[in-house]
Amino acid sequence: MQKNADLMDKIVSLCKRRGFIYPSSEIYGGIAGFWDYGPYGVELRHNIKQHFWNKFIIGREEIYPISTSIISNPQVLVASGHVGNFGNELFAVSVGPGEEAATSHLRPETAQGMFVNFKNIVDSFHPKLPFGLGQIGKAFRNEISPRDFIFRQREFEQMEIEYFVDPRDPERINEIFDGFYDAQQEFLKEIGLSSSKIHKIDVPESDRAHYSKRSIDTEFDFPFGQKELFGLAYRTDYDLKAHMDKSGVDLSYFDEETKERFVPHCIEPTMGVDRLVMAVLSDAYTEDELGGEKRSYLKLAPLVAPVRAAVFPLLKNKPELVAKAREVYSMLKKDIPNIEFDDNGNIGKRYRRQDEIGTPHCITIDFNTLEDDMVTLRDRDTGEQERVKIADLKEKLS
Ligand code: GAP
Repeated sequence: MQKNADLMDKIVSLCKRRGFIYPSSEIYGGIAGFWDYGPYGVELRHNIKQHFWNKFIIGREEIYPISTSIISNPQVLVASGHVGNFGNELFAVSVGPGEEAATSHLRPETAQGMFVNFKNIVDSFHPKLPFGLGQIGKAFRNEISPRDFIFRQREFEQMEIEYFVDPRDPERINEIFDGFYDAQQEFLKEIGLSSSKIHKIDVPESDRAHYSKRSIDTEFDFPFGQKELFGLAYRTDYDLKAHMDKSGVDLSYFDEETKERFVPHCIEPTMGVDRLVMAVLSDAYTEDELGGEKRSYLKLAPLVAPVRAAVFPLLKNKPELVAKAREVYSMLKKDIPNIEFDDNGNIGKRYRRQDEIGTPHCITIDFNTLEDDMVTLRDRDTGEQERVKIADLKEKLS
């Protein structure tokens, strides 16, 4: 236990020291449940979101991207059952000036914005079932005890899909549900998480959210214990029906083939960005010995690493080396934007810094480079170095 508390301290301290994550409004003493992301944190987070976007939204023909407002008409969260079921955890906001102000709430999930846009998407795009809406955005919950760094926050980000299916085909619904589960697991593998730390939890009815008929949570071995990473729920027609009743607007779907009209059911894969960042950081944090020296580093998958590779001149005070290193850096940066140029301190210090932020490769330009157009490519995990032609670098890194 002590060991794990130590591990958390080390991760939090690395995140602050190296520019990943800072306590929000720290110069005023911070505020519980809120965190700011620094340059490397933003990039790590962006890479995770980008992969989700490519894999689950823009990479799928039948899923429509959308971005809905954080504050909605107060009726939305009344209809969804959040006001009432979720009363204590909602952040109230007053909308409009003075006496005319109406009370609404910051959204506790991005999902509702998608349900209330169901008809807009159907009217604009005439999609056939099954189809989905997906978005990435902030959500807010006034958690009673925010804790465990970015694991339980009051402001966090979600990546959600509301996937509408034909309620007349329960077998197909199960298939789609299982397909999303598999895709979620694949996603975890792709962002580099150790499969031995991932657990599947069939959520019993007593623990399910008020809208869910079936839920599978994916839990992860965080340093503070096995906890929920993200979920997958079968929300049935709970939400569309609730909004239909409350708004009086018809949110049914007309099947052109069978000439039948019905309210679609919904399957919802939902993932917390910050929990994924937390899982990635804690899984990647590694201590070992390299060349007789102790080091700590982040063993990040290249897909999510904030810096894909760093380019150094061997010596800072040799203009010909600096110029060549700048040339290699600019060439690579055109195709791989997250390349860093580093000429601070000596080469050992640069390696340590890049290892600590999880940069998979370092590229060093030395005097031989000026003769043979080859550079030294160093691998973060093994420390091994190889000579590589500048012309082959791009392919090596891709
Ligand atoms: N739309 C369904 C929904 O919101 P949820 O299980 O309440 O379901 C989904 O939340 C995901 O959002 C969680 O699995 C988790 O990844 C993330 N999440 C929820 N509360 C959070 C918090 N306080 N801090 C960070 N992430 C949170």
